[in-house]
Amino acid sequence: MVNHKLPPGFHLVVLDTVDSTNVEARRRAEADAPDGTLIQALTQTQGRGRRGRRWESPEGNLYMSLILRPDCSVATGLGVTFVSAIAMCDTLAAIVPPMVDVAAKWPNDVLINGRKVAGILLESASGSSGRLKWLVVGLGVNIQSFPKSTEYPATSLNFEGAVNTSPTEVLGGFARYFKRWFDIWGDEGFTAIREAWLQRAAGVGEMVEVRLPDKIFTGRFLDLDESGSLIIELENGERRAVTTGDVFPSELI
Ligand code: BTN
Repeated sequence: MVNHKLPPGFHLVVLDTVDSTNVEARRRAEADAPDGTLIQALTQTQGRGRRGRRWESPEGNLYMSLILRPDCSVATGLGVTFVSAIAMCDTLAAIVPPMVDVAAKWPNDVLINGRKVAGILLESASGSSGRLKWLVVGLGVNIQSFPKSTEYPATSLNFEGAVNTSPTEVLGGFARYFKRWFDIWGDEGFTAIREAWLQRAAGVGEMVEVRLPDKIFTGRFLDLDESGSLIIELENGERRAVTTGDVFPSELI
């Protein structure tokens, strides 16, 4: 086990290989692992992405999942996606060379120079009251390598010039920024998080293509609402709130 120095409240578990750190976190959450348990694996054999996709997981990149037990509803807990994206933006911005652009992409990706470097996968379980029992925040960060044939172009920290960084450094930075933004979320609610996310978001005011499971449409990315939905203005001026799907900037369409 590597000895990372993390802020108080994190309990780090480092595994050589696992099916998926999110699946391992779910198992441990169901077995009463405490809030703040952070599971890192050096490789995953069944890394999972959003919408049933695979997450390629060779050695050299970061794979981690954080177990949280916030006392809130499932809907409120979704705010943690944006807390995590902000924390990862801030972590990576402190690592990449100057002038390299780090941005958040709705709903839960981080881009460097317009290409995806990190993805976030939130999973949760709730009791009959609709309150969260646990929340797992899974994060994958491309450090040494990135997949070449993804629908959305990918990149890695090494490729973008951050050649001396390691999974340990990114994990440590994330833990510190996450704690800061999670506390702000707890104290000030989603309003503060929405503002911070919008400040870091790529393409606000620009045309995007939204791909849903059953349809595709284009519009202008206007805003993020108080529930975390993306607000798109259609050509006819109508505004549509998008709760799920993939978003592509017009230059990639
Ligand atoms: C996405 O962008 O589709 C989300 C990707 C999330 C990948 C991470 S890697 C660590 C954790 N374990 C998983 O199986 N998935 C998440």
